[in-house]
Amino acid sequence: MPDNRRDISRREFIRLGIAGGALLFLPQLPSSAVAQEYKGKPINGMMLARLLGSDALPDPFDFIFCADVHIPFDDRGVFKKIISAANDLKVKFVLIGGDTVQVGNPANFTLLQRELKKFNMPVICAMGNHDTAFEDYADQREWTVRFGASCYKFDLPGVRFIALNNANHILSDADYDLLEESLETDLKKVVFMHRPANFLNVRYDTPMRDDAGRFRSLIEKGGATAVLTGHEHHHAVYKINGVTHIVSGGAGGRLTPDIENNFHHFMLISAGKNTFDYRVEKI
Ligand SMILES: [Fe+2]
Ligand SMILES: [Fe+2]
Repeated sequence: MPDNRRDISRREFIRLGIAGGALLFLPQLPSSAVAQEYKGKPINGMMLARLLGSDALPDPFDFIFCADVHIPFDDRGVFKKIISAANDLKVKFVLIGGDTVQVGNPANFTLLQRELKKFNMPVICAMGNHDTAFEDYADQREWTVRFGASCYKFDLPGVRFIALNNANHILSDADYDLLEESLETDLKKVVFMHRPANFLNVRYDTPMRDDAGRFRSLIEKGGATAVLTGHEHHHAVYKINGVTHIVSGGAGGRLTPDIENNFHHFMLISAGKNTFDYRVEKI
């Protein structure tokens, strides 16, 4: 773990609205000082510090969700168009659901970080299987040293976001523990991670493994509003037992053949205490 990370105090947790999110590490910097400075610091922690330290968000607030950029391949400059759209739309932040790079090596992450700096707002990334060493999905060192924790939660007006890591096929016990505890709130609950659940579409070759149905049981009993994922390079929305599953794998990776809605796109989402609206923006 890099020296510049530290456990943040309870007071800071409360100030930043992430009390209990003990798996998240944040740098000791005022939000004004962290804008676009990533070098040697966990990107997700800095981005969250910017987001949570900025002026109060409206309710509802707008954000973009997308996944599967696969830098350096970024098919047809799709990701550059998403950057432009995010800046034009002035969304409050962007969530990227993993596979930011084709293989998680220093060269690709350097290219990615160059692109992330072009966003005018915080960008928070989940870990995808391509963000690992790839020949070994369990080797997640390159991503972790850059982005920090992969399992945490944060609260925005009316909405709790829960980040999980299923890059290596499954959720860990730490992910399940965080999910279970984080669902105990009256806020809307939005889960984001890379692989989609295993009960959505029989055409999905490598969804998250969950033979015991633990994930499904937790999100349905816990009243999750939505689960945002990518991995499958197409677009789909499934509404099952009160949970909206959005698969948005269209941010630049080569599109999956022989499946419906295989177009490049991002999701524009409006969320708040009484709101969860979304629309797909084709590119
Ligand atoms: Fe992908
Ligand atoms: Fe993937």
